[in-house]
Amino acid sequence: MRTRLICANWKMHLDRASITTYLEKLNDGFVSGDGFEVGLFAPSVYLSQMPGPLGDKVIWGAQNFYPEDKGAFTGEISLPMLKDISCPAVLVGHSERRGVFNESDELIALKMNKALNDGFKVVFCCGEALEIREKGGDAAFVRAQLDSAFAETDPEHLDRLSIAYEPIWAIGTGVTAEPGDAQAMSAEIRCWLKERFGDQIAEKMRILYGGSVKPGNIAEIMSGPDVDGSLVGGDSLDAGSFLEIIRNSL
Ligand code: PGA
Repeated sequence: MRTRLICANWKMHLDRASITTYLEKLNDGFVSGDGFEVGLFAPSVYLSQMPGPLGDKVIWGAQNFYPEDKGAFTGEISLPMLKDISCPAVLVGHSERRGVFNESDELIALKMNKALNDGFKVVFCCGEALEIREKGGDAAFVRAQLDSAFAETDPEHLDRLSIAYEPIWAIGTGVTAEPGDAQAMSAEIRCWLKERFGDQIAEKMRILYGGSVKPGNIAEIMSGPDVDGSLVGGDSLDAGSFLEIIRNSL
């Protein structure tokens, strides 16, 4: 049985005061249990405020980093800097990093391996654009993203990885993948994992769904046997709504 993982991706939202209030509110309403974990991905400037009163009840992490330890990389933050503030987790491969910031598959693979090799927990994001789905190329596209990101990955580190399937057409659009689509792609990803890394790793890997997840649709999405959690953007910005998503995921 895989432990469910429900993550908030705050993107470029919230501020110091609202994060303080959020963490208090989440802590007050927090449901404890063995069967699930909660992750919070904060803007890097506020990471040192994390995880506040929640302590080790949550996994928290950065939305981005650059895969060099130090150097002339104006504007970037490194994994050693994240370690320095005891940050345990990172997101890699989010479609906004790929699309808005032109992160290539090569850079994403470098980030992936560097973060895993340096001991971080990683949520790796993949997913296709609408044109690709309409032409029936979604499974091949996601498989190619996985092939590229994990070409050099040491299987020893994979217990720190989760994979989030986030179809680009469902992110921030209010359009959610049908529960059947989320399940079908999660099963495809698990099948890829079996072929690439074997049954044991595939069975243990948590596969999350992301894209317009809300308190009202999460239970149905999570009913797919291969869907083990979610990565929530817009509806994670309010602690009350994120708490409801957590409760409805269990
Ligand atoms: P959304 O974003 O929930 O606002 O669609 C999800 C994500 O990008 O991780």
